[in-house]
Amino acid sequence: MEILVSPDPEQTAARAAEAVLAGLDRSSRRPSVLGLATGSSPLGLYRELGRAVAAGRADFSTTHGVALDEYVGLPPGHPEGYRQVLLREVCDVVGLAPDRLEVPDGSSTDGAALEAAAAAYEQRIRDLGGVDVQVLGIGANGHLGFNEPGSALTSRTRVKRLSARTRRDNARFFRGLDDVPTHCLTQGLGTILGARRLVLVATGDAKADAVAAALEGPLTASVPASVLQWHADTVVCLDEAAAAGLRNRQYYDDSAEGLPTG
Ligand code: F6R
Repeated sequence: MEILVSPDPEQTAARAAEAVLAGLDRSSRRPSVLGLATGSSPLGLYRELGRAVAAGRADFSTTHGVALDEYVGLPPGHPEGYRQVLLREVCDVVGLAPDRLEVPDGSSTDGAALEAAAAAYEQRIRDLGGVDVQVLGIGANGHLGFNEPGSALTSRTRVKRLSARTRRDNARFFRGLDDVPTHCLTQGLGTILGARRLVLVATGDAKADAVAAALEGPLTASVPASVLQWHADTVVCLDEAAAAGLRNRQYYDDSAEGLPTG
């Protein structure tokens, strides 16, 4: 794991964008496949990618975007459905083509239809040749995607119940708690681990405990984001506030300096 701590959210986003671009360059597959998280954490990163496009350093016009998750039961076109969110916050910002955006189909509330949608999503990711770089945020309860505590470490895309904490945290995007869906379709932890590179962004003190548990605690389904420890190419980009609970901080800072020069 590479753990990069920056003084503020802006510099955290800039470093995360570099980690994404380096991962896409390294994979050298064209068109590349970029895994997309929603929520507040990656917004600065997406804006940085937009700046890289404007500066001629990146081009997402042929890139496929693959969402991490989607709510169950929101009608197609709902502004807080993750397809709409990613169209606004990623496609419009980095120039990713809307017809290259993949989002699990959570529009039904029928169990069999959702199971079929989950299987179709796994197949779609396989057909694309897997995800080159997966952007991730972390829940205050340690969730990754919407894999809530207790999720199997090898899980695949499936329906999950959202925890009370996650529904409260996400109520800010809706008119109120009652409007937040109770269920979602989410890539499983095993699906996420299949990406060639993982880039996690976390900022703010509300994430400090989850970050410390995920990076320095035991690998456990009780902290789903601890599966990051299992992946050979994980880059974690934090601001000072989110890094505040890390015990091994000095080592991460020393490692980030790289090999000695001269
Ligand atoms: C979003 C997702 C979630 C969020 C997490 C953090 O697609 O899967 O895991 O990344 O809930 O959300 P924010 O960034 O809003 O704090």
